[in-house]
Amino acid sequence: MIVLGIESSCDETAAAVFDSGKILSNVVATQHDVHERFGGVVPELASRRHLENIVPVIEGALTGASMTLDDIEGIAVTNAPGLVGSLLVGISAAKGIAYSKNLPLVGVNHLEGHLHAASLQFGEIEHPYAGLVVSGGHTSIYLVRSFSDYELLGATRDDAAGEAFDKVAKLLRLGYPGGPAIDRAAEKGNPKAFIFNKPHFSEKTMRGIVPRQFDFSFSGIKTAVLNLHRKHSQSEGLSQEMAADIAASFQESVARILTQSLLEAAEISSCKSVVLAGGVAANRRLRALLAEKSDERGIRSFIPDMNLCTDNAAMIANVGHEKLIRGERNGFDLAAISNQEIGIN
Ligand code: KG4
Ligand code: ZN
Repeated sequence: MIVLGIESSCDETAAAVFDSGKILSNVVATQHDVHERFGGVVPELASRRHLENIVPVIEGALTGASMTLDDIEGIAVTNAPGLVGSLLVGISAAKGIAYSKNLPLVGVNHLEGHLHAASLQFGEIEHPYAGLVVSGGHTSIYLVRSFSDYELLGATRDDAAGEAFDKVAKLLRLGYPGGPAIDRAAEKGNPKAFIFNKPHFSEKTMRGIVPRQFDFSFSGIKTAVLNLHRKHSQSEGLSQEMAADIAASFQESVARILTQSLLEAAEISSCKSVVLAGGVAANRRLRALLAEKSDERGIRSFIPDMNLCTDNAAMIANVGHEKLIRGERNGFDLAAISNQEIGIN
């Protein structure tokens, strides 16, 4: 079945054509130029840019696959979670095409898309496995028992890891987007210059949130970086060397926390494999550390290419394809939902 996937949940407008296990095209238009001077995504500007990009991006994906809309057999679109104004652009385009071409339509959860991105590259991964989705909005570990059977083993209680990367990069004036900027700056820094410890928190229910064994917290590390920054800033600001050391130490701590939790979650759930997903999975230190520590523990790690980690529509077409062949369909009342976890029963 040939599926057109559409993704517009945050600041990437993306479309892909997917045919039963194979990516035929995968087009992504980033909006970094729009949001750069604000140091973060501005929702209203994101929606407007999606509106400008959506048609050319879909046309680009069709051309890349040497196809027209007449060749498409199903439409998959991200409908949750994300910025509602951004999601609506993709959803409206998907509905328009589905209606005019009389094609089946299915909504896909963005996190589910990330979680299965590894299978685009490595084929089906043996269940059960532990998957970490680590992005700008989420940091969650799932036990994946089958394609649609997930259990959330841990999630962040405050900032997502990607959000912490972005905020620390902004503080250190390293540029935007923050994750890749820290990744680059860290090359010249000493990862052992500073230690940022893994936070421990109470096992008691907090503000109605029931704690999970593998929950994360990154706001404390962010504050520690802020304090360090204040301490070492001269009147002319932070030296380049100091900024590189802080970036490298911060990145090392986050990579260690994520790796340790994912591998422990895998072991406790008797998983032989782990999967890394989401934008922060493009981080070179995290990728190297997870590969190394998984090997040491005899666990297989599946770490997809960077372009499958950051937001793309191939991952949405992939999950949509599976849902469509299982007979799942959505009507034209498919709604944009800002907040929707997976794996909570
Ligand atoms: O999955 P994604 O593309 O969008 C969301 O669903 O949020 O993730 C974006 C996040 C941003 O916070 C960005 O700074 C981070 O992924 N990121 C990285 C790297 N590349 C992107 N973080 C650390 N190192 C990287 N190389
Ligand atoms: Zn994402």
